[in-house]
Amino acid sequence: MSLLPSLMCVCVCSVWAGVELTVPGSVEVYLGDSAQISCQYSFTEATVEPSFLMIQWFVRAIGGGSSRVRIFYGDHSSTLVDKDTNYTGRIQVTLDQHGTSLSIQGVQLSDEREFFCQVNGLSAGTAEGKTQLRVFAPPEAPVIEVVQEGTSVTREKPSKVASCETRNGFPKPNITWYRNQVPLTPATERVNVLTLVTRDSRDFYSVQSTLEYRVQREDKDAHFSCEVTFSVPGAVRTAESSSINITVHYPPTMVELWKQSPQGLVREGDTVELRCQGDGNPPPTFIFTREQEPDVALESSDDVLTLSAVSRSDSGMYQCRPTQHVPEVKGEMQLTVHYLDSAVMVPKDSEVMFRGEDLVATCNALSSLKTSTLWFKDGRRVGEGHTLHLRDATYETTGEYVCDVTVPSLPSLRTNGSIHIVVQGPPQVLGAEQQLEAAAGRTVNLSCEALGRPAPVISWNIEGSQTWYEVMSQANDQMTLSVVAVSISADISARCNASNVLGSDSRTFRVTAAEGSGLVIIGIVLCLLLLAVLGSVLYFLHKKGKVLCGRSAKEEITKEKTTKNDIVVEMKTKTEDAVLLKSVNGGKRGLSDQESP
Ligand SMILES: *[C@@H]1O[C@H](CO)[C@@H](O)[C@H](O)[C@H]1NC(C)=O
Ligand SMILES: *[C@@H]1O[C@H](CO)[C@@H](O)[C@H](O)[C@H]1NC(C)=O
Ligand SMILES: *[C@@H]1O[C@H](CO)[C@@H](O)[C@H](O)[C@H]1NC(C)=O
Ligand SMILES: *[C@@H]1O[C@H](CO)[C@@H](O)[C@H](O)[C@H]1NC(C)=O
Repeated sequence: MSLLPSLMCVCVCSVWAGVELTVPGSVEVYLGDSAQISCQYSFTEATVEPSFLMIQWFVRAIGGGSSRVRIFYGDHSSTLVDKDTNYTGRIQVTLDQHGTSLSIQGVQLSDEREFFCQVNGLSAGTAEGKTQLRVFAPPEAPVIEVVQEGTSVTREKPSKVASCETRNGFPKPNITWYRNQVPLTPATERVNVLTLVTRDSRDFYSVQSTLEYRVQREDKDAHFSCEVTFSVPGAVRTAESSSINITVHYPPTMVELWKQSPQGLVREGDTVELRCQGDGNPPPTFIFTREQEPDVALESSDDVLTLSAVSRSDSGMYQCRPTQHVPEVKGEMQLTVHYLDSAVMVPKDSEVMFRGEDLVATCNALSSLKTSTLWFKDGRRVGEGHTLHLRDATYETTGEYVCDVTVPSLPSLRTNGSIHIVVQGPPQVLGAEQQLEAAAGRTVNLSCEALGRPAPVISWNIEGSQTWYEVMSQANDQMTLSVVAVSISADISARCNASNVLGSDSRTFRVTAAEGSGLVIIGIVLCLLLLAVLGSVLYFLHKKGKVLCGRSAKEEITKEKTTKNDIVVEMKTKTEDAVLLKSVNGGKRGLSDQESP
């Protein structure tokens, strides 16, 4: 603590005859410190330095009006601190040629009094000076407290929002209120400050200040603080409290409603959550309604309206508003529930077509969004758009057609439909009339395959052979295959006849039996044959002037059991036959159809 007493003012206080005194008007000191009061004296020139000088210090009696108590006496020969005063033992006085100084130890609040310095020079005159001792005790830091329950903006008059207290100060400190560092001016429409000052038995002051304030919504973010202003020796100090915010109750001014989930477009079956949020304190609770039924509150939990498994009928305008009704404050949103109905196929399920016919199939699915339709058959894309054109039906046209309807903007929406197309028609035997040559004694396989729906029945009519039998028979919905093994002993003519309820078709096979003898014989026979054929060709050309076109093709048949010799013979035969046939047929028909090893 500073031991410096502060001199507030120094004045010439009293002049009698020839003595002049100089004392400070006041001395300021912290509680507990030592105070020093000096008193200087001098004599006017006219006055002779006195031979006897008497110095006394007095103090104003407590509550004593004009009465005072002597606390010290001194002259040339003796000094005396008066007994049984408040200062006995606490003071020291120094004396010298020009003055005296009173020092008080352990200054107490009760020492805040007037001290008198009296100098008596008898004939030289008497003088007295007066000094006010001021004692200072800085108060404790201010403590601020907020009203917990909060304040509503609807209150018309200022109401208590906070209080501030500072204790044990001297002299009385002042309290100032701040809002966001700006002092609040008391006694206005908004602000009222109540101050309670108490003084305890030890003379300390405690000041309690209550801030009454008319809150506005903006005050919810404002910081309030109080500041204590107190005097210290030679200065004025301040101490600020911590800053608080106040709880402002205000009705909602804005409410918003939005879809919290799902993200993006809503489809039927989704669970939709609409959230309502607004300002206001305490946070408002909400009532959810639909526009068409404003009086029917929808069941909701807190600020969320949950709509499970929505359907298109849940589409519409939704609203939410605070439970405590505030006019004009509500949130709104349009909910659209998208859908895609199942695909409707025309024709339905399955359709029978006749070979060569046309058909238009359609696939439609009602949706709230634009759809895209693709057609598939056996996993292969066969069409696009909601109609499918099938033209000139063949048996391959038969099958399952699937239409896939999707919604590009909402890929999870999709449906499909399917139609089974069946193509009916009379039998159609594959392959043309066949001419074969086979060595006598061999067995030849004749194969007949027919398309048609219903699946054709194949019957054989074989002339020239008694020994034949069916070695293979296969059938499905629209195809029948029959293979017969025929034992060749002479030329034969065979016909397979495929028939169903819609008609029949047939195919003819001619098998020429060849002698399977030695190499030389065959060579001769072939040469003769070649010559004969050439001759007849020339003859015909000469006679008719053109080449006849035959309908039959000749085909070589390998033998069931081959030897090295046989191979040579057969290959030769084959070559010559081919040449022969080419010239006969004008190369118009190739060697095709079945070839059995
Ligand atoms: C208000 O004070 C409370 C507690 O003191 C604090 O949690 C909150 O963040 C403060 N608010 C503002 C706006 O400063
Ligand atoms: C306290 O307020 C009073 C009245 O406004 C004023 O006279 C006094 O000087 C103030 N005290 C301090 C320490 O500021
Ligand atoms: C084939 O068979 C059907 C039914 O048995 C018969 O009507 C038809 O005349 C036959 N066709 C030939 C060419 O033999
Ligand atoms: C005829 O066909 C049957 C059954 O496919 C087969 O086992 C047989 O070897 C064939 N015969 C000839 C000469 O190709």
